[in-house]
Amino acid sequence: MEKNGARRRLRRVLITFAVVLAVLVTAVGSGFAWLWTRADVSTVGKVRFSRPLAVPPLAESTVESDGTRVFDLRMQSGETEFRAGVQTPTWGFNGNYLGPTLRAERGERVKVRVRNALDEASSVHWHGMHLPATMDGGPHQMVAAGGEWTPHWKIDQPAATLWYHPHPHGTTEDQVQRGLAGMFLLDDARSKNLKLPATYGVNDVPVIVQDVTFDGGRFDHDHAFLANTGFLGKRTMVNGTLDPYLEVGDELVRLRLLNASTARIYTFGFDDDRAFDLIGTDGGLLEKPASMNRIQLSPGERAEVVVRMRAGERSVLRSYPWREGGAWEKRFNGGDDSFDVMELRAAQRLRPSPALPAELGRLELPDVKDTTQGRFFDLRRSGINGKPMAMNRIDDVVTRGATETWTLRNGGDMTHNFHVHDVQFRVLEVNGREPEPALRGRKDTVAVPMGTTMKIVLRFDGPADPDTPYMYHCHLLDHEDHGMMGQFVVVEPGQQAGGPKTHKGH
Ligand code: C2O
Ligand code: CU
Ligand code: CU
Repeated sequence: MEKNGARRRLRRVLITFAVVLAVLVTAVGSGFAWLWTRADVSTVGKVRFSRPLAVPPLAESTVESDGTRVFDLRMQSGETEFRAGVQTPTWGFNGNYLGPTLRAERGERVKVRVRNALDEASSVHWHGMHLPATMDGGPHQMVAAGGEWTPHWKIDQPAATLWYHPHPHGTTEDQVQRGLAGMFLLDDARSKNLKLPATYGVNDVPVIVQDVTFDGGRFDHDHAFLANTGFLGKRTMVNGTLDPYLEVGDELVRLRLLNASTARIYTFGFDDDRAFDLIGTDGGLLEKPASMNRIQLSPGERAEVVVRMRAGERSVLRSYPWREGGAWEKRFNGGDDSFDVMELRAAQRLRPSPALPAELGRLELPDVKDTTQGRFFDLRRSGINGKPMAMNRIDDVVTRGATETWTLRNGGDMTHNFHVHDVQFRVLEVNGREPEPALRGRKDTVAVPMGTTMKIVLRFDGPADPDTPYMYHCHLLDHEDHGMMGQFVVVEPGQQAGGPKTHKGH
């Protein structure tokens, strides 16, 4: 009797345990299935393309007696009507959202009068620009609320599509999301002589792509539960226009694509898979156009593409899922997502365009044979080479005029990219192989996916400034804000690094 009772009790306990376990497994499993199936986003086929694309105005400028071109940028807060009748609080330069396109020529001296009319400190960084470290607009050139800063420098680099955005340490993601970003176009004799589409806003169009989520009238900037890249929005906009279309009147259209999102990686192509020509990367024109039907851009990267239109057609610029990456990584970090980004509407009669030039000119890139110094960068979200960013620590000292080869290693479990201030570099190899055509031009930002080892070649032409560092960092802005950033100074041969003077005002 005793034995039977004990056995019965044991059986009851075991059954209860099994039931509870089964319920738990089912709950966790279906919870996970729920998360998994909800984690990807697609706007393909769902976008009505109801609004004409806004084109950022070209910034006005004045020329001083010594030839310096002067721009004014005012950082301000306001409201933007992205959707009819709904106002969203936003920030912008000289307006409520984004900023005007600055434009200057190689050899010109420029000066920008930056005024910060916000109620918090910020900075304005000239992404892709070769300039003195004190003019760079990184976290050491803060502009206090109500303050002013007037950087000036000489444009000394080839024609390119650059951009500008704030860079305060710890709040860059937030400030860019609120709307602080704009383009900075450079021209030179070569770019002006080539027969490329070049009428701003007509057949040469800035395409600033951002992802957004709205919560009523406000932006919702929450990070998804299992995303480790940062903010991923549920829809895209271009130049601050939701569901945009662009009317095209020329056979060839040049799109200057900028990924101004804070974490999302786009793989751009057209809905009919047509080929387009890549003519320029971050730092300027390629040697010759490269035909392709996809171009991947991680945050901060740019590409100039030329697409051929047929009279009367409609063609959609789309972002496709990533070609590479693990299932988990893709699912929770945007890799499975797809977006209808913008519609191109060709007129019934198109102006004929001259054929694209077969040669675009010589690439100005350093040669690996000149390397005198190698460096290694282990990319982790917790910090580069094991150290989170510290404002008063110089991580690397570079000699002016030196060519260096940097090895970037992402051995971790999430995607990163890598951006270096002041220079445009050559991508030498990716996992031991020659880089794909889209990585063969001048680059200042490059995606470094999981499991990737990449070598880049950089030349630091100066000027030297032992006290003021430039940054290198992951341009997934949440990672950057959390310390995935380091500092280097450029010194004269034999010179010692000084120390960054924290937050000196201008
Ligand atoms: Cu576009 Cu250091 O930044
Ligand atoms: Cu930069
Ligand atoms: Cu990162």
